[in-house]
Order: sequence, then C-alpha cells, then structure tokens
Amino acid sequence: MNVDVLLVGGGGREHALAWKLKQSPRIGKLYIAPGNGGTQNLGENVPIGVMEFEKLADFATEKKVHLTIVGPDDPFVGGIVDVFKQRGLRVWGPSKAAAQIEGSKAFSKQLMRDAGIPTADFSVFTNYDEAFRYVQDKGVPIVIKASGLALGKGVYVCQTLEEAAQALKEMMLDRIFKDSGTQVVIEEFLDGPEISIHAISDGRTYKLFPPTQDHKRALDGDAGKNTGGMGVIGPLPFVSDAQMSDIDDRIVKTTFDALNAKGIQFSGLLYPGLKMSSRGVKVLEYNARFGDPETQVYMRLLKTDILDIFEACVDGTLEKQPIEWNSGFAANIVLASGGYPDEYKKGLPITGIEDAEKVPGVIVFHAGTTFDGALKTSGGRVLGVSAVGTTLKEALDRAYEAVAKIHFEGMQFRRDIGAKALAA
Ligand code: AMP
Ligand code: GLY
Repeated sequence: MNVDVLLVGGGGREHALAWKLKQSPRIGKLYIAPGNGGTQNLGENVPIGVMEFEKLADFATEKKVHLTIVGPDDPFVGGIVDVFKQRGLRVWGPSKAAAQIEGSKAFSKQLMRDAGIPTADFSVFTNYDEAFRYVQDKGVPIVIKASGLALGKGVYVCQTLEEAAQALKEMMLDRIFKDSGTQVVIEEFLDGPEISIHAISDGRTYKLFPPTQDHKRALDGDAGKNTGGMGVIGPLPFVSDAQMSDIDDRIVKTTFDALNAKGIQFSGLLYPGLKMSSRGVKVLEYNARFGDPETQVYMRLLKTDILDIFEACVDGTLEKQPIEWNSGFAANIVLASGGYPDEYKKGLPITGIEDAEKVPGVIVFHAGTTFDGALKTSGGRVLGVSAVGTTLKEALDRAYEAVAKIHFEGMQFRRDIGAKALAA
C-alpha cells in the first residue's frame, strides 16, 4: 500500500531526504512544508512554517498523512513531536525532552559529565563578570558558546582575551542571540579533526551510520567564521573500524543509556559531533536531528529504502530493519551566498544546474532557493553539489567539476573540502 508523507523543513537536508523518499516503491503523495525550489520537483510544497505546529498537524490530519518526518532542530526543541503525538498522529523524531540534548548545551554538558562521556572541560555562567574572570583565569585559546540554539553561529573559538571579552559581551550584554545566550558555556579548546556520527534509534535499539566529516568554517584552511557547514565527505578513510566501535561503546551507547536513566527515550537521529583530539576522542556537541549537509552525503550512499527505516523507528522495529550502504564515497560541496554567515543578498538568479547534473554521479540539492518562474537565491547556504565516486578523490573531482558550471552573483564556496582526508 502506498503511503502519503509530510516532510517538515526547507533546507538542503530536506531536499536530500525528499529525493531519497521519492525513490521508495511505497511512497504515495509527498508534501514538503515549506520546502524549497528543489523539493517542488519531487512533491508538493506546502506554505506552512516549521514552527507552526498546530497548522502542520491540521494539515496532516486533513490530508490523512500516514507519517510526518521532521528535519530541523528548532521544531524538535520546541516540541513538534509531542504536539503531533497528542493529536494521535504518526511522527518521526525526538520528543521535546529528548531534544534538550541539542537545545541546551548546559543540559548536554552536565549529562556528559555525570555519565563520564569524554568532552571538553567546561563551566556554565549567567553572569558576565564571573564569566570574564573565568576566561582570564584559564587563558586562551578558549571556546565560548551560547547555551541555546543559534543556527550554528553561537560558538566563538577565541585566540585572544580581547576576542573572548567581545564574545561574552555580544552574548550576555548585547544579547545578539537573545535568550539563547543568557547562559554561556565556556570550554577548553580541543585540537584535531572533527567528525560527525549519526545513530538512528527507535527508542529501544539504535544503528550507526558510517562516519562523515563536515567543514564548519566559512573559508579555506578552516579560516573565517563558524557556519552551518560548508561541505561534507563520507565515509572517512581515516577512521578505522576499531575507532568506530570505541566511539560506539564509550560515546553513543553511553549517551542513550544516560538518557534512558533519566527516563528519556530518544527516538530519532542522534548526531554527536566529535573531535579526534590528541588527548582522545571527545564530544563537542550533540544534535538531535540529521546533519546538514551530512544528510546530502548519507542519502547518496544509502542503499536501503529510507521510508522503511523511518517507519521502523516509529513502529519500534528498528532491530529487524537492515540498513545497507552502497560501496564508494560521496561528497557534498555547499555553494553559499557572498557574505554568509553574515549579511548577504537574496533574490539572485541561479544558472547552470542542468549542466552540473550532466557530470557523472552528480546531484544538486537545493537549500536556500525559491522558484518564481526563475530559480533564485533565498538563503545563506544556497545549493549543495553532491557526487558519488568509487574513490573519495573521484567523488570530490566530480563535485568540483559540477560546481564550476553553476553561477550566481557573489557565489562563495570552499575549494578544500576533503583535502585533508585525501592527504592523510
Ligand atoms: P558546536 O556547535 O558546539 O559543535 O560548535 C561549533 C564548532 O565550533 C564545532 O564544530 C567546532 O569546529 C568548534 N568548536 C566547538 N567547541 C570546540 C572546542 N572545545 N574546541 C575546539 N573547537 C570547538
Ligand atoms: N553539519 C552541521 C550541522 O548539521 O549542525
């Protein structure tokens, strides 16, 4: 029997999920709320915002949607899953209580400390003077984070005391992240490569995806500001099976156990961001959702029908559901608006996507685009150019060959995605 699905979100992650859902032999109608210029070719875009829970639930009820899948962090943290469940609707993802692991760094850091999960040493502050004294005491480099959600921008890696003072001032006194910065977490700087772990869970069992790597800084050589993510590769040739099983034992399993011990069942996608530091693997942060643009790489590599996986999570039957991956590698290069992650222009025409998709193995995922007769930019991260290949190098070469065919005014991207992994 074919089933109708509502997918909530409108970024590159959701385009990739929609692309994969559409390949399911069981998919009926696919609605995407609000969607973007790419998802409209795969299903029906519905003009309801991701935080309009009651309207989304009304829509799911009215259309007799079989399953709702949610992409972004804000609705999870705001309790969309609880609202849908109260209304008797089938929905995939973590409850509000479970999503705290992403929504409050103060909560997640304490959970890690209590459960003995390796993470950077830290303290939490609500008072500017005390926070600043702590920074002076510890010295630099040091990392200052807004406790709440801040679109991936609430983290400052400070190399000087002046930078640290400025970060604390912006968050605590100028309140540029509003209430998200009322509490700040100040933590030890960790060196080494960063990797993304994804574990999908039905609340009873979980299954690990292969490791991937995002590139968070805006500019080549890991310079510039932190962004939502500028490019992903996977799987990672420099992470061994033994390292993955150590990460599974000491981090992933321990995290699910620690949540269970608090009476919190985590059903959905747990994405710990890790640092392979010189002092061992440590958790930088948790996300309670699929990564963006990690998902673009995962959907290119996943062999199994994603609808089967989502349904197994909702039905509590994940243990019996195989998750299989294609051989080879995938890469996804983000094309961003000039100026991102700061101010940028919108409404600029985009050309060359059709040509880009003629390169073997390439699919272009939309993120910040709209279509009003012509395709235009509408966000900071505009497109994700993904490619698969037998080797990581082939995947990257194909992705960059396709990138060269796309144009919009001010287009900005990193030219060194995957370069360190290739050199390792
Ligand atoms: P988060 O949102 O906590 O993952 O932080 C965003 C980014 O800031 C991470 O992906 C890292 O690149 C960087 N970062 C965060 N915490 C640390 C840390 N303790 N040491 C070094 N870099 C960090
Ligand atoms: N890839 C970064 C994020 O999804 O948070």
